[in-house]
Amino acid sequence: MCTCVPGATGTHQSSNNFCSRFIKHQCSEYLDGKTVIVTGANTGLGKQTALECAKRNARVIMACRNLEKAEAAAKEIRDATKDSGKNEVVVRELDLSSFESVRKFCARINEEEPHLDILVNNAGVYRCPSLYTEDGFETHFQVNHLGHFLLTTLLLDLLKKSAPSRIVVLSSFMYKDARINFDDINWRDSYNGTEAYKSSKLANLWFCRELSKRLEGSGVNVYCVNPGIVLTDIMRHTVPQFLRYFDCISRLFLKTPAQGAQTTLYCILSEKLQNESGYYYSNCSQEDLNSNGLNEDGAKRLWEVSEKAVKRE
Ligand SMILES: NC(=O)c1ccc[n+]([C@@H]2O[C@H](COP(=O)([O-])OP(=O)(O)OC[C@H]3O[C@@H](n4cnc5c(N)ncnc54)[C@H](OP(=O)(O)O)[C@@H]3O)[C@@H](O)[C@H]2O)c1
Repeated sequence: MCTCVPGATGTHQSSNNFCSRFIKHQCSEYLDGKTVIVTGANTGLGKQTALECAKRNARVIMACRNLEKAEAAAKEIRDATKDSGKNEVVVRELDLSSFESVRKFCARINEEEPHLDILVNNAGVYRCPSLYTEDGFETHFQVNHLGHFLLTTLLLDLLKKSAPSRIVVLSSFMYKDARINFDDINWRDSYNGTEAYKSSKLANLWFCRELSKRLEGSGVNVYCVNPGIVLTDIMRHTVPQFLRYFDCISRLFLKTPAQGAQTTLYCILSEKLQNESGYYYSNCSQEDLNSNGLNEDGAKRLWEVSEKAVKRE
């Protein structure tokens, strides 16, 4: 397994199918004195990312919608990292399906936190049952993209003040053949859960690219991550509970959360990336985008649509 181990340096070998190559990077970086926000940190990749940041002595803010689940996860992380004695793990309420909740969360962060060094836009839904949010947007579009768009823009001044700082956004290889229909951004005409998810992951990627342009020279870098195919709760709305019995089979083919979080950690930690922004990373290395990902007009148009959407009262 390729592992970013606190304090370790050098080259690591991967034995996982989806991560099967040597990964050459230094991974000795610690996060002492740094504040990291991870959205959707109570389970899956977000929880693993929060744990790894806590191991590296960060102040970790777990931004979650369900406080009970989040506090239980935070306790697990505190227990697992108590020997470090240097980290802090706190929970703050954030529901990305509500602009009001995002605004409340950001107001609190901007008031309480003297600096913010790393923002990880990780939370996401896949083929969720509820179609529209309280703000009237298709759920994948709002939770995966618009909510994070608003969150990031409201935290930008703090991130700029804390520069050098980083924004890491979880996208997916599914961006490749996704499309965003600007004539029906809310999927009112014909809804398809998988296509809506793919479209939101393309939105994540376009957001990173446009944001990195707008942040040029600010000292805030943006990284887009494809974690691979990872065994988490992401399929909760599509795979029936009884199929969980087949987890042992899935384990042979899918990455574990610890493996899946490696590229996110690479983008959070690697000093090698300090002069890179706006790129897409898989298996701890930069990967070229296809023409869909490189569509600059699409990215610009999405930015304008998103700006208008989050401003609507
Ligand atoms: N797993 C994969 O194979 C895979 C592949 C490519 C990309 N990704 C991306 O990786 C990211 C993490 O996914 P995962 O696999 O770790 O999924 P997961 O285990 O389902 O975790 C998703 C997290 O997002 C949170 N979340 C959902 N709706 C939210 C909302 N309205 N407000 C705030 N938080 C919300 C969930 O909170 P609750 O527990 O309260 O629902 C949970 O903490 C996602 O962006 C996903 O698209 C995953």
